[in-house]
Amino acid sequence: MEERPVLWAPAVQISSTRHFRQEHPVTTTTATAVRTGQAAARATGLNKVYGEGETRVVALDNVSVVFPQGEYTAIMGPSGSGKSTLMHCMAGLDTVSSGSSLIGDTELVGLKDKQLTKLRRDHIGFVFQTFNLLPTLTALENITLPMDIAGRKVDKEWLDRVVDTVGLSGRLSHRPSQLSGGQQQRVACARALASKPDIIFADEPTGNLDSRSGAEILSFLRNSVRELGQTVVMVTHDPVAASYADRVVFLADGRIVDELTGPTADSVLDRMRRFDAKGRTS
Ligand SMILES: Nc1ncnc2c1ncn2[C@@H]1O[C@H](COP(=O)(O)OP(=O)(O)OP(=O)(O)O)[C@@H](O)[C@H]1O
Ligand SMILES: [Mg+2]
Repeated sequence: MEERPVLWAPAVQISSTRHFRQEHPVTTTTATAVRTGQAAARATGLNKVYGEGETRVVALDNVSVVFPQGEYTAIMGPSGSGKSTLMHCMAGLDTVSSGSSLIGDTELVGLKDKQLTKLRRDHIGFVFQTFNLLPTLTALENITLPMDIAGRKVDKEWLDRVVDTVGLSGRLSHRPSQLSGGQQQRVACARALASKPDIIFADEPTGNLDSRSGAEILSFLRNSVRELGQTVVMVTHDPVAASYADRVVFLADGRIVDELTGPTADSVLDRMRRFDAKGRTS
């Protein structure tokens, strides 16, 4: 019988090799290693505890990780391992219990709400699993909303390029209800990209999409890294999705337990199986 991962339950069958990246040499490094090049975001000794007493949960346990500029990183791990918490803490959407979290050179820990809002608005893009578009606005209005709220002038040339890259040119006057799930997520990606953030965090961006729409979003995110120089960090449960990234960081029980560079769907699946064979770390 075919051996299957138990804890990870990949959302998409990997029988389709259509979207696989070419093979890369598989090497591992530690996620805490200091990398050359500028870091778009960096966490050092990050801890996040929810609740207290019997309800106390250590969601992040001394996490140190660097997301270099211009790199596409996937974050994987079992449900409840802290993936969303890590993204939220590093994107300034949640506070940390202790440790340091930088966007570029700016320390998030200790920032006042107003400063955090400004940092998020000017430097961070976020793509959610559930698109989070405003139903009464058109696709174009949704894309430019953050800049409209901030009173920032829209860079028309850049906007055209983003819209072109996501392939939405013919759909800009449609409302979200008139768009497919994949198209709505492309609007959300365009919204995240439009303000030229330093880093985009995407939490299971293909989780609600069929495999074809998912592949479009993944290609788009990869192109935004390759062609537009974006930095992208993406949570996924799917080895095929992870294979679009330059690197995969594995979380278990709130800790970084491994890292894979140049991932392929097979190498990611293989790594996941090895974790399952060892059982969860605790
Ligand atoms: N607001 C909260 N209050 C209390 N506990 C929380 C809260 N948010 C997350 N947790 C807990 O923190 C741990 C990590 O949760 P997190 O959402 O980061 O996991 P995840 O890896 O994103 O899981 P999934 O793959 O299911 O999305 C879990 O045990 C979760 O129950
Ligand atoms: Mg999550």
